[in-house]
Amino acid sequence: MYNEKVLENFRNPQNVGEIPDADGVGTVGNASCGDIMQIFLKIENGIVVDAKFKTFGCGAAVATSSMATQMIIGKPIEEVEKVTNRAVVEALEGLPPQKIHCSVLAEEAIKKALEDYRSKKAAE
Ligand code: FES
Repeated sequence: MYNEKVLENFRNPQNVGEIPDADGVGTVGNASCGDIMQIFLKIENGIVVDAKFKTFGCGAAVATSSMATQMIIGKPIEEVEKVTNRAVVEALEGLPPQKIHCSVLAEEAIKKALEDYRSKKAAE
């Protein structure tokens, strides 16, 4: 059901873990299945210099978190906030239709982490 690229990101996920002094943290849950994803961002001079994730979820959720973090490291915030679940699915060369909803978690978690970063910044 999954292609090689998805399986590779599931078997050997990149950027698993947490960033203790993260500048932004986003936690989201998928209402349809109850799975949870958390993304941690380290941001310096408007650039995402590091990203890590913890996912309590299905294989597609793990693979999309792995791919999404790889896609955003080294990118300016303005580009990171435009990353869509569609772009992540394309980078994974596709997901089975019934697993597309899992990829939405990555997009939402990144957006939440950026919101968290901005609200922390505003409070400084
Ligand atoms: Fe829950 Fe995939 S089934 S995120």
